Amino acid sequence: MSKKVEGFSKFSKAEKTEWITQLHFDDPENAKKLINDYNHFNPSIQKLHDEFVENSLTNFYLPLGVAPNFLINGTIYTLPMAIEESSVIAAASNSAKFWASRGGFKANVIGTEKIGHVHFLFKGSTEKLNLFFEEKKQSLLGCTSSITKNMRNRGGGIKRIKLIDKTDLMEEYFQLYLTFETVDSMGANFINSCLEQIAKELKSAALEYDYFNEEEKQIEIIMSILSNYVPGCIVHASVSCPVEELEGTKGLSSEAFAKKFIRAVQVAQKEPFRAVTHNKGIMNGIDAVVIATGNDFRAVEAAAHAYAVKEGSYTSLSNAYIKNNNFFFEIKLPLALGTVGGLTQLHPLVKWSMELLGNPNSRTLMEIIGVAGLAQNFAAIRSLVTSGIQKGHMKMHLLNILNQKKATEAQKEKAIVFFKNNTVSFNSVSDFLKLNS
Ligand code: MEV
Repeated sequence: MSKKVEGFSKFSKAEKTEWITQLHFDDPENAKKLINDYNHFNPSIQKLHDEFVENSLTNFYLPLGVAPNFLINGTIYTLPMAIEESSVIAAASNSAKFWASRGGFKANVIGTEKIGHVHFLFKGSTEKLNLFFEEKKQSLLGCTSSITKNMRNRGGGIKRIKLIDKTDLMEEYFQLYLTFETVDSMGANFINSCLEQIAKELKSAALEYDYFNEEEKQIEIIMSILSNYVPGCIVHASVSCPVEELEGTKGLSSEAFAKKFIRAVQVAQKEPFRAVTHNKGIMNGIDAVVIATGNDFRAVEAAAHAYAVKEGSYTSLSNAYIKNNNFFFEIKLPLALGTVGGLTQLHPLVKWSMELLGNPNSRTLMEIIGVAGLAQNFAAIRSLVTSGIQKGHMKMHLLNILNQKKATEAQKEKAIVFFKNNTVSFNSVSDFLKLNS
């Protein structure tokens, strides 16, 4: 049980740690030691981290691994991947290697449009509101000129503004619907600043609009916020090769493998329960690179799943087919990413990851990350329709159990050999360690 505390945010970091550990842990000294152990030994790096969020106590680490051999649009990349899940990076690397010798991945950005809304209530004549909007459109846009100046210089800014009648959804509900080009930034701050400025202008312009009656003058702003659903900010990635170049496995010809693979994708296209897991596998690859490059994985996840249900039923983000004896596998999904702003210039490992990727602009990063999703999906389905996924997973799972059981290096080496042909479970590993202690 916790207890109420006044002025916690004003405590020093040491005081916060003391308060938390004394109150909540059986062994406060040990709990404090853990917090301190995970603080970075370099004080300037730790200070940077502490300034990202409020009430920071320490760091929560994820492994950062790399997946080499990604041939994308003719360039070879090594992808940085921050992820805790066993075998995701191994699977990505296998997939990259497989496709590197079959022409590699092709990727292209289909659109980069972002969206934001001013949601408001208006009581009165819709006709008058439309007239008001047409008259004030330029000043609604103009009021953002100081906010948009730099973005316009970089080729971005506000693209369109529309008034939308939403009274079929809710009484008196209208929207200003805006689209944006945010070039290399993800754009959340830029979009929200523009929207808040426009909302203020909307409210004050209505108050002064002579044709409105007193009630119509009182526009009520509900909120001004970007939408994380970005169906106009889309990347497409694909691979293809002659069917006979697909490796079959023992007992499965290339053609039979291709057909089985396509069936598995079709199951995900038709069956939402499978689609969710299928897309989760895609997001294993996407999130890992999104996190390593300092992007907002919650926004990317929310948009991807909304896109997966855009036709009314949740479906696969990827598609596979055979045409003229060639196997095709492709993905299309929204990705709102930034390569400037946010964490990209602040977090040392994000900067490192960006440099590893050759400091891409946001369009190239969209292509790289779209490919990461496709590669991960390919690896998962290939395993699922051939050996099953447990084989690959269990190798890493074994190491996790061995580490949990504090196995020595010698025991680990023996266990890896033994469990090549034996089933890994917590009990079987415990028994093995007892026999080999
Ligand atoms: C596990 O994290 C992801 C998979 O379940 C994806 C899939 O089933 O396609 C292997």
